[in-house]
Amino acid sequence: MHTAIQIKNLTFAYSGKQVLHDVTLDIPARQITAFIGPSGCGKSTLLRCFNRINDRIPGAHVTGGSIQVHDIDINRSDIDLQELRRRIGMVFQKYNPFPKSIYDNVAFSLRLAGPTKRAELDDTVENALRSAALWDEVKDRLQASAFGLSGGQQQRLCIARAIANQPEILLMDEPCAALDPLATLKIEELICELKKQYTIVIVTHNMAQATRCSDRTAFMYLGKLIEYGPTMQIFEDPKDPQTEAYVTGTFG
Ligand SMILES: Nc1ncnc2c1ncn2[C@@H]1O[C@H](COP(=O)(O)OP(=O)(O)OP(=O)(O)O)[C@@H](O)[C@H]1O
Ligand SMILES: [Mg+2]
Repeated sequence: MHTAIQIKNLTFAYSGKQVLHDVTLDIPARQITAFIGPSGCGKSTLLRCFNRINDRIPGAHVTGGSIQVHDIDINRSDIDLQELRRRIGMVFQKYNPFPKSIYDNVAFSLRLAGPTKRAELDDTVENALRSAALWDEVKDRLQASAFGLSGGQQQRLCIARAIANQPEILLMDEPCAALDPLATLKIEELICELKKQYTIVIVTHNMAQATRCSDRTAFMYLGKLIEYGPTMQIFEDPKDPQTEAYVTGTFG
């Protein structure tokens, strides 16, 4: 199995307060890896290390260990952060389209990258919207505001926006937390479809979602990785009593 992200002995602190302790795991390429664990255990922090958007938080630092993405140490000082974040896209809990048209949301970063022919742009936008399972619902209203879409559609638009950058990895931090059950199912179907092309890491509080969607699951607690393995094993035959308590809902 090809490894997309290799995390070794990672420690991380906010203003001197250590919140990740000696985390080591390999995230396989073109699979879905879920991070689960109680609130505050460090799931989002760990996820945000992979494209270094924690760098934007004053006082936030990797204090030890390493992260390699396809064999490149991403914490090197000479890493091109814009390129890193293009390769490693991110989707957040609260869908956050730009106050622009549906078309312009998806075309945004392509335009930033430089002049592109209109026909080429049209193609990329269509392909990204198709990949995000949104094209059929929006093809007749591409120039309408993104804010006129339903929550689930806005989240799929955010996924299309990330896909338009041709990333290798997609990070999703509770992508369905703000959605109703039907919109959630639709995003889950989409995530399963996307793993054919992308490596996906998803944070979720929804145990059913982790079992439905992911190939591997990592259980974290108090900044430590407690257990990591195939999703079936984590849920049906956990080795650690804390994992067992969490997945069976008797934790705490
Ligand atoms: N910007 C920040 N500044 C300081 N401390 C932070 C910051 N963000 C998170 N923390 C702290 O780091 C720890 C891990 O937080 P993190 O947000 O990664 O947890 P989480 O597992 O994603 O939780 P949740 O499930 O509630 O989203 C917590 O103790 C939290 O209070
Ligand atoms: Mg979080």
